[in-house]
Amino acid sequence: STVPVLTIDGPSGAGKGAVSARVAGHLGWNVLDSGAVYRSVALAALEADVDLTDEAALVELCSQVDLEFFAGPEGIEASLGGRPLGDALRAEAVGEASSRVAAVPVVRAALLSLQRRFRRPPGLVADGRDMGTVVFPDATVKVFLDASVEERARRRYRQLKENGEDVTFDRLLSDLEARDRRDRERAVSPTVAAADAVVVDSTDLSLVEVVERVVAIVGDRV
Ligand code: C5P
Repeated sequence: STVPVLTIDGPSGAGKGAVSARVAGHLGWNVLDSGAVYRSVALAALEADVDLTDEAALVELCSQVDLEFFAGPEGIEASLGGRPLGDALRAEAVGEASSRVAAVPVVRAALLSLQRRFRRPPGLVADGRDMGTVVFPDATVKVFLDASVEERARRRYRQLKENGEDVTFDRLLSDLEARDRRDRERAVSPTVAAADAVVVDSTDLSLVEVVERVVAIVGDRV
């Protein structure tokens, strides 16, 4: 395809979603939040009472996932079969189920063409774990967005506190460490930087600074 793609991969909590939404807004490009793809499959499975170990049933669900993204007041939002999902995708149970379905190789394979369909003119910003390595290996620009696990836990802690959630920092930190390990060590599509990715470490950068840096990286190549 000649439609340009910017991939932004990295661990949980590195700010991929916020950076992607702002960079896409700046460029006027489409977005693919691939975490929302796995979360949608998980939500559909939970709602239909599908056993998360039933691979054939999960693959069947994948073929029915009708996901769209749109710009809402709070940033990029997702709709499934025309139904706006709001906060439903962010629920802890959905996050937990999504990491289980995301570890199933036939599920990942079944979601490839759905994800690639988001590559439409004038361009696409795709964020996730394997955008630059597996889904769009021919991407125009690949960024790997990292940050120390302590900083990622601090950011999430602040965000959850603002939403009035009752969490402890130590618990968040150990959850993030466990999720990092699962995502990095899984056999299929582990979280690794593509060989041709530009690594951006956001530990000591603000969101605006990261966005500026990514826009500059794209500007050099498109
Ligand atoms: O990024 P987010 O937390 O929304 O992702 C939800 C789940 O989907 C994570 O557990 C992650 O491991 C998985 N995922 C994935 N590949 C992607 C994006 C997300 O396996 N490209």
